[in-house]
Amino acid sequence: KYEPTVKKYILAIDQGTSSSRAFLFDENLKCLAQAQQEVPLIYPKSDWVEQDAELIYESVCTTIKICLQRAQISAADVSAIGITNQRETTVVWDRQISKPIHNAISWQSKQTQRICDELKDLDVKSKTGLLVDCYFSAPKIRWILDHCQAQERAAQGELCFGTIDTWLIWKLSGRESHVTDLTNASRTMAFDIQKLQWDDEILQRLNIPKLLLPKVLSSKDHFAHACVDIFEGASIPILGVAGDQQAALYGQGCDKPGMVKNTYGTGCFMLMNTGRERVESNSGLLTTLACSTMNQPTYALEGSVFIAGAAIQWLRDNLELIDTANMSGELASQLKDNDGVIFVPSFSGLGTPYWKSHVKGACFGLTRASDKRHFARGVLEAIAYQSRDLLEVMRQDCGREIQKMRVDGGACASEFLMQFQADLLGMNLELPKFAESSVLGAARLALEMLEDQHFDLEEREEQVYSPHACPLEMNEHYKLWQKAVKAVIAFSE
Ligand code: G3P
Repeated sequence: KYEPTVKKYILAIDQGTSSSRAFLFDENLKCLAQAQQEVPLIYPKSDWVEQDAELIYESVCTTIKICLQRAQISAADVSAIGITNQRETTVVWDRQISKPIHNAISWQSKQTQRICDELKDLDVKSKTGLLVDCYFSAPKIRWILDHCQAQERAAQGELCFGTIDTWLIWKLSGRESHVTDLTNASRTMAFDIQKLQWDDEILQRLNIPKLLLPKVLSSKDHFAHACVDIFEGASIPILGVAGDQQAALYGQGCDKPGMVKNTYGTGCFMLMNTGRERVESNSGLLTTLACSTMNQPTYALEGSVFIAGAAIQWLRDNLELIDTANMSGELASQLKDNDGVIFVPSFSGLGTPYWKSHVKGACFGLTRASDKRHFARGVLEAIAYQSRDLLEVMRQDCGREIQKMRVDGGACASEFLMQFQADLLGMNLELPKFAESSVLGAARLALEMLEDQHFDLEEREEQVYSPHACPLEMNEHYKLWQKAVKAVIAFSE
């Protein structure tokens, strides 16, 4: 049993694409307990991805309960809550009864392609730092309003839109608060990241009534009080909120401009802190808000890969080639190289730097001798190749040297992947011992808000992966990957 020697506990929630998790931290940001529950994805059509928003909320409540039980801490002892979440995923609900009018539309979903095609002439980049793509929330709002014939209700103020943070805060606070933070707002494609406000022109073009939108707060702020039954009468302030990738940048302690992290989750997201400077990319990187306050915005450059760890899940659940995610690394290491097999897991299109939403996945170089080891290796190598794609353009656009990178996320558990990645990038990868950076970032935000002071994350234990392989050989592998990506793009055109 944990013997409490400290007075402050921070509850941090990480609502991700594949699962909901709750973590309890002490005031030194040491993790005391955690709980996790998987959340199902719904595929109404082959490239549509949705989730049940009510189930998402229930899974969050379940994990909170289990986490507090495991830590043997009562809700009344929790000083503050931090929330981090899968970004862009869109929920629209009825303000009166708090019921979603449609499933949540996942960031990965492509059902808004037609809406996006009609927006190609709209300049979203200069205001939002993003590109017109199905990935972002605003076209998803339009789709839901059309599909549910809900325009009139939205205009009357009967409905609320939220990304997952907003939905959870609304529910946890018993409808007290309809709010989001700067990082989540910056992923909607309707938020001006310079003026830090919703953009009227984009909203008008998409015919999205402002009444639908949450109030945008700093990432450290008073968002609401969580007071529903699971908190047994306690009323706990929600003090830190950020989208999972920006939260990971914060939880990795990438506080100085030029620091980079890469998260290997469902997708892969590489972010560089660019400080007060808003760097524009010409190569398909996104400019986005890092964890910020309204009077001091901090910017980041981001490269987004849609399918990374999700491809390992696909090996497990769709092909049933492996029983556990760990087995992919074991199988991959049984081969001395990929035998010319290259796997392109673009199941949800290609993000940075290609931005081709209609591309599908493919596997090249199979022979009669290929077996599940080749698939496992192909999938893990593809995660590393896609990350190199991101690093190549980041180097080009940021105008800085990048000598090392901090890494985190579930797939970092694969030693094969980490070593292959260090070899392919030719740089050191720093993996913190506590690799749940998003949730740590959310806890850090909440703690800093609570104590009104900076918390330094520099003192941490980490494992470093250094490159060993011959760079020329790794470049040959990378060239083959580039050839394969060109071929899948050509195939889909
Ligand atoms: O932009 C999507 C991202 O926030 C999803 O994160 O951790 O669920 O892969 P994750």
